[in-house]
Amino acid sequence: MKVLISGALGHIGSYLIRELPKTYNFKKIYIVDNFESLRFPSLFNLPNYNYKFINKDLSIEDFKEDKVDLVLHFAAKTDAVNSFNNLKEFKKNKRITSRLIKYCNLNNAKFVFASTTSVYGTQNKIVDENCSLKDLKPQSPYASVKLEEEKLIKKMMKTNNYIILRLGTIYGYSIGMRFHTAVNKFCFQASSNIPITIWKTALNQKRPYLSIYDLNRSIGFIMKNNLFDGEIYNILTNNHTVSYIVNIISSFKKINKIFVNSPIMNQLSYEVSSKKFTSKGFKFKGSLKREVKKTMKMLNKIS
Ligand SMILES: NC(=O)c1ccc[n+]([C@@H]2O[C@H](COP(=O)([O-])OP(=O)(O)OC[C@H]3O[C@@H](n4cnc5c(N)ncnc54)[C@H](O)[C@@H]3O)[C@@H](O)[C@H]2O)c1
Repeated sequence: MKVLISGALGHIGSYLIRELPKTYNFKKIYIVDNFESLRFPSLFNLPNYNYKFINKDLSIEDFKEDKVDLVLHFAAKTDAVNSFNNLKEFKKNKRITSRLIKYCNLNNAKFVFASTTSVYGTQNKIVDENCSLKDLKPQSPYASVKLEEEKLIKKMMKTNNYIILRLGTIYGYSIGMRFHTAVNKFCFQASSNIPITIWKTALNQKRPYLSIYDLNRSIGFIMKNNLFDGEIYNILTNNHTVSYIVNIISSFKKINKIFVNSPIMNQLSYEVSSKKFTSKGFKFKGSLKREVKKTMKMLNKIS
């Protein structure tokens, strides 16, 4: 099987291009990215495998190099906080998705789309994929665009040969990792001996998180079980409070906290169910403690 991984130099992609081939045999892996995030080191020391890197902006150019069987779509602008002043830029994400849908239709390729659990927004009780469109409350322009992309996929894909994954916030080390999101940002701040910046209302709010290790396993599971059924699945290792995360980090390093404002901060808690996915036979095995330990170890010399 040939696969195209878009956004393959990013936090998730740089992990998948190394880990997926350990359990799944690909004929060729196309690593496609436009260096928007400047993660050049993601290309360092790749294992011996049939890779081909292609530098391409998928919002303006099609992938024409080959006919692949599967598209794992992870290319996007991803800094949700930054999307509040930048909706026009974030709309480019939709253009990438639209091009890749057309590619899949034309080449009869399967399609995996990375959406986000932040399309749910404030919810009173644990929420699942049955949440109706009118009850979804995307937390940012970034999340609103994800929702538009989900609708686009449902409308444009000619077959059900796709799966939409609403991913919890990723934690865990990869060579192309970024530090915009909660766990990784806190690890970086703690390692730098500077106070951890917590959104004012967030300390006891619960949110869904996903170990990068579990995401890689989920994708392997989807491929192995051919779970391309045109459905949406929530993918998360666990729901955690910020306070829980901070406690885990403080078991590795003494920390100070300060409370700050954020455009996303006045959201209440929300908890997400992953039952639809686990009912297919998948078990989440990731550990926040293990991944925090690994990230802190990588950063242990910076201060
Ligand atoms: N990291 C998370 O917590 C999280 C949670 C939910 C969903 N997701 C989604 O998963 C996907 C990957 O996330 P990530 O954390 O790896 O993001 P990332 O920002 O680390 O990586 C995204 C990659 O896409 C590339 N890219 C951006 N625009 C492009 C374009 N026009 N053409 C080609 N490449 C382009 C960037 O250069 C970057 O390397 C995104 O769609 C993101 O929205 C991530």
